[in-house]
Amino acid sequence: MARDIPLGVVIVGAGRAAEIHSWWYPEIPDARVLAYVDLVEEKARARAEANGLTGPGTYYTDYRQALARPDVDIFDVMPTPPAQPEIAMAALEAGKHVLVEKPMAQSLAQCDKMIEIARRRGVILGQVHQNRLHRTPRRAKLLVQSGRMGQFVRARALGSTIHTLDTLIFIFGRPEWCAADWSYPQLQEPVNRPPAWLNGVVRFPNGVSCSIEMGYDAVCVPQIYFNAGRTFVLFELIGERIGVSFAWVHNQSRIWGRWDGADEAYVRETQEWFDAQLPDVADTNGHRVLLPAFIAAVRNGGRPLLTGEDGRQAIELFTGLYKAAATSQRVDFPIRSDDPFYSNPLAMIPG
Ligand SMILES: NC(=O)c1ccc[n+]([C@@H]2O[C@H](COP(=O)([O-])OP(=O)(O)OC[C@H]3O[C@@H](n4cnc5c(N)ncnc54)[C@H](O)[C@@H]3O)[C@@H](O)[C@H]2O)c1
Repeated sequence: MARDIPLGVVIVGAGRAAEIHSWWYPEIPDARVLAYVDLVEEKARARAEANGLTGPGTYYTDYRQALARPDVDIFDVMPTPPAQPEIAMAALEAGKHVLVEKPMAQSLAQCDKMIEIARRRGVILGQVHQNRLHRTPRRAKLLVQSGRMGQFVRARALGSTIHTLDTLIFIFGRPEWCAADWSYPQLQEPVNRPPAWLNGVVRFPNGVSCSIEMGYDAVCVPQIYFNAGRTFVLFELIGERIGVSFAWVHNQSRIWGRWDGADEAYVRETQEWFDAQLPDVADTNGHRVLLPAFIAAVRNGGRPLLTGEDGRQAIELFTGLYKAAATSQRVDFPIRSDDPFYSNPLAMIPG
């Protein structure tokens, strides 16, 4: 795999995510997209052509056709979520390095199988959760770590995707337990989208208690208007002296002080400190950082920015919230492999 020519990439699933990934590959000299795969031939061919690829071997309708190619080093996998684990496992087994989109898999069992194959075959498994790489959540993490907030009081997340859970894990670490309820248990897509509105409580290390409200409603009312922009995802982290509310992108963030206006100078100073952190980090386009880092990890045998283990953590929290809502019981982490929800996060869910 130490060839001097750029690493060969095949993109599986030629939808919206493939379009996003394709924006950034031309900026990576050490990688070249060789082909696109989609069950729908026209989508695979159109995506290939849009990226300057024509002719035989530039698009396929079956990922297995690309597995056998010795010039393919990397499978960048982003089909409809339930199809992802099988494709990732087959590619890893074939000795390809694999980058998967979120959600990593549909169950913890699948996550562990993917991680196990990557280890056994000596290849790299990377995960896309690009939103945690944006400047604002990284600044928020620095604020939490700085001690400027005083005693940490609580956290709150409003959001609709697994990115929300990943961002909380990024800031606070692996959760200890969770509890949850949902408004109606009518199931649609597992893991990627919760069935309806889920209200959860997650206990993170150091006594951090976080309430989570997440899901999709048929009537999807924007949860908040924030800094003149509309967002469906919002985080609030509250300490004794300082709170911060933020969305992932476009520098949507604000430092808050006490309701009685005490400490105003300290609030201003903290806002200035916050705004000065990580000046070189972009506030959007986490893929732009993540993709070259993955390519570099493959080239140099290093660690990608996010690994399969990182992807697994978000699936574990999701599984815990599902289980807690389904059983009306607190769920302690880690979820064990003999737990019925380990293999099927929808186990025992009524209706
Ligand atoms: N990180 C992000 O912000 C982000 C953004 C968009 C999508 N995604 C993720 O990317 C994945 C794809 O999302 P999308 O919006 O591109 O969906 P999409 O529906 O636009 O595209 C998915 C494509 O995969 C194809 N497909 C399904 N099964 C396949 C298989 N077995 N082999 C080959 N192709 C297959 C479908 O025909 C479809 O064209 C999802 O997991 C989604 O969560 C992540």
